[in-house]
Amino acid sequence: MTKKKYLSKIEDLSNRKIVLTGGTSGIGLSFFKYLVSKNAFVILLVRNIKKAETIVKELNYSNIDIIEYDQSSYSSIKKGIDTLLEKYPSVDSIVLNAGVMSRTKELMEGHPYSISVNYYGVRYFIEYIAPKLTAKTKIIVQGSLVAGFHLNKKTNIDSNDFKTFKEYNISKMCVEAYTYKLMKEKPYSNIDFVLTEPGITSTSITRDLDSFLKHVGKVFVSTFFHSVDKASLTLLEAVSSKATHGSYIVPRGLFTISGYPKYKKFPHKREREYLIK
Ligand SMILES: NC(=O)c1ccc[n+]([C@@H]2O[C@H](COP(=O)([O-])OP(=O)(O)OC[C@H]3O[C@@H](n4cnc5c(N)ncnc54)[C@H](OP(=O)(O)O)[C@@H]3O)[C@@H](O)[C@H]2O)c1
Repeated sequence: MTKKKYLSKIEDLSNRKIVLTGGTSGIGLSFFKYLVSKNAFVILLVRNIKKAETIVKELNYSNIDIIEYDQSSYSSIKKGIDTLLEKYPSVDSIVLNAGVMSRTKELMEGHPYSISVNYYGVRYFIEYIAPKLTAKTKIIVQGSLVAGFHLNKKTNIDSNDFKTFKEYNISKMCVEAYTYKLMKEKPYSNIDFVLTEPGITSTSITRDLDSFLKHVGKVFVSTFFHSVDKASLTLLEAVSSKATHGSYIVPRGLFTISGYPKYKKFPHKREREYLIK
């Protein structure tokens, strides 16, 4: 398979409205460029409007809107969604890709920072928007293979005494467990939920790790794992019409670390844990 061949299999997205969080960096930015190449109408939800405007200007793309949105603040999420729905009462897909691997001393909305942004922020978004969506909509949640690192352990997720990487892993486990429940229980009849994982790729998400770990990690990841343009293909697959409610899309390589997207049955061990959490 070549990237050209893979991309040719994904339909043109000319008549689709796609909402994207985290489209200003790394995997989300690469995915955004694919959406541009497929002619989608893209609504970027971003915390840094200037950064988004610069990116859009460089891409010279006009089929786009930008709305302010900070996933670490419930009031900003609410405001972002209210603005979005006022302008676009119906959209085709919402891609919840924004995420952090970061710690602060303060709690955010009462929770440790990464857990707040990566889990509670996504959950609040879905719970606030879902009852307001009347047309058929697909919501895609960006997970991570590290979600599987923390199974079989009892954890108080709000204790705020984790190391940065552990807090990130737990946040991803929580958001996957939450999405998996939505996929299993389908509480909103008009919303299809899809879970993606991008494998492992070098992005600025590791910026707050301590510098030794960050440097070694960056060299290791960029040498052995896949490029950001390949990692973002699971999101592109997820917005295609082939992905339906309950689809779980991951890279097809060993341990789902790298490679072109594939649809996978949810791992039995994670399924069992997620349903009781
Ligand atoms: N890189 C990997 O190997 C990997 C593996 C598995 C899963 N993932 C997941 O993939 C997603 C994208 O990560 P990435 O590696 O591409 O990281 P990245 O390059 O750091 O991009 C993160 C994106 O999220 C946005 N963001 C962060 N905090 C936000 C907030 N509070 N409100 C709104 N937007 C916020 C960032 O905005 P700014 O541009 O303003 O900073 C940026 O656009 C994350 O959910 C991550 O957990 C990544």
